[in-house]
Amino acid sequence: MNIDLYERIWMWAASALVVMFLAAILVPAAVQAIHPPSHVETLDPTKLAEHPEFATGGVNTRSDGSVVVSVAASMFAFTPNPIEVPANAPITFRITSADVIHGFQVVGTNANAMAIPGYVSQMTVTFATPGRYIIACHEYCGLFHHEMVGTLIVR
Ligand code: CUA
Repeated sequence: MNIDLYERIWMWAASALVVMFLAAILVPAAVQAIHPPSHVETLDPTKLAEHPEFATGGVNTRSDGSVVVSVAASMFAFTPNPIEVPANAPITFRITSADVIHGFQVVGTNANAMAIPGYVSQMTVTFATPGRYIIACHEYCGLFHHEMVGTLIVR
């Protein structure tokens, strides 16, 4: 089969682009363990009130100095609220929902995840600037979705 030179050049160029785009996803995933924050764990959303981690939620400092914040979203609040964390320390948020799908976005930062019943979303963020941040639910979750706001205090 005869393929014109220009067509061959474009075929190789298109293939190179596909390889480049796949590499842009797979290399950071493999090298830096970057992945979407959703679905790191499963749990029973109907038993969240008895769950050892999410029943009360809260800010826990581990022995290595890292901070873990466990957040349960439900109509129409985040628990705990407010959340107080130190600046310039890696903060790992673990987020789940007791009822429907909510959003968890620390406004003005790149901390952003879904709160999905039955699953834990996890992300680690470092806040360089102390202050009060708004935590917004960015997923329509019911009549009072617009009232679902939390506070993050970085000190
Ligand atoms: Cu919760 Cu919108």
